[in-house]
Amino acid sequence: MKKAIYPGSFDPVTLGHIDVIERASKLFDHLTIGVLNNIAKTPLFSTEERVNMLKEATKHIDNVEIKCFGGLTVDFAKECGANAVVRGLRAVTDFEYELQIAQLNRVIDSEIDTVFLITDLKYAYLSSSSVKEVAAYGGDISNFVTPSVEAEVKKKFEGKIKGKE
Ligand code: PNS
Repeated sequence: MKKAIYPGSFDPVTLGHIDVIERASKLFDHLTIGVLNNIAKTPLFSTEERVNMLKEATKHIDNVEIKCFGGLTVDFAKECGANAVVRGLRAVTDFEYELQIAQLNRVIDSEIDTVFLITDLKYAYLSSSSVKEVAAYGGDISNFVTPSVEAEVKKKFEGKIKGKE
């Protein structure tokens, strides 16, 4: 059985992430999405909220499960019985950062390989940060996230729209 993990912050999950998840779920028999519980970062959404949004957004895919993790990605991969880490590449600017992480992970554990999926062109500009930025100014994020994630993001910014305080 070919198993992979797809780690990330997913703060929040975007349509770009979902595209990568759908495609990776066809390449592997089982895909575990790892939501990073990073105490160094202060995400907009709690780990539980991010996990729940991902569960809702991927409920149509049978071989995908969502977990959170707090340690090294390679350790999480091992725990999941996976030997591949999936990451999306949007642009050349992503490559340098991703290459460094992939090489570091291989030095830590040479049995874990990274598989890069090139983001669909229609999501090449999209990031969780840009979703939050547009929402913070009261902009329309319906082209970037699922309707249920859109509702969750809107709740976070209710009464706090920048320039309208
Ligand atoms: O969605 P992100 O924030 O770009 O994901 C980054 C992530 C989670 C893949 C990276 O920060 C990570 O792997 N963190 C876990 C800690 C770890 O394994 N560090 C070594 C490689 S940087």
